[in-house]
Amino acid sequence: MFNRIDHIGVAVEDLDAAIKLYERSFEMELVHRETVESQGVEAVLLDVGEGHIELLAPLGPDTPVGKFLAKKGPGIHHVAYSVDDIDKALAQVEALGMKMIDRTPRTGIRGSRVAFVHPAATGSVLTEIVQPAEGAH
Ligand code: CO
Repeated sequence: MFNRIDHIGVAVEDLDAAIKLYERSFEMELVHRETVESQGVEAVLLDVGEGHIELLAPLGPDTPVGKFLAKKGPGIHHVAYSVDDIDKALAQVEALGMKMIDRTPRTGIRGSRVAFVHPAATGSVLTEIVQPAEGAH
């Protein structure tokens, strides 16, 4: 179903401090920065090989990432797998009876189409399915 791991999402309290760690210390290239209102985050992507690290800072305490930070503190937030056709992938996971957060795709970072599978269906791993925008990788 999945092509590869597109990114690992990491929840952070201080975006600039986290960028410093990944960009300067780990020498990853920062390739994108965006406020994704629909997800309540300011997010950046850093390249690592063909995949990315997605750093997520909440826009407020009542956002999903804000609540995650309050409950669990900073750390790994989700795993994202890329697909060629998200509508087909969603139909497949729905046919398996998996509990979904998104039954239809929404717009994610960098013009991607994304949908989240509920952690209750995935052994507590918040799982994102992502169809990258044309031209993105
Ligand atoms: Co993500």
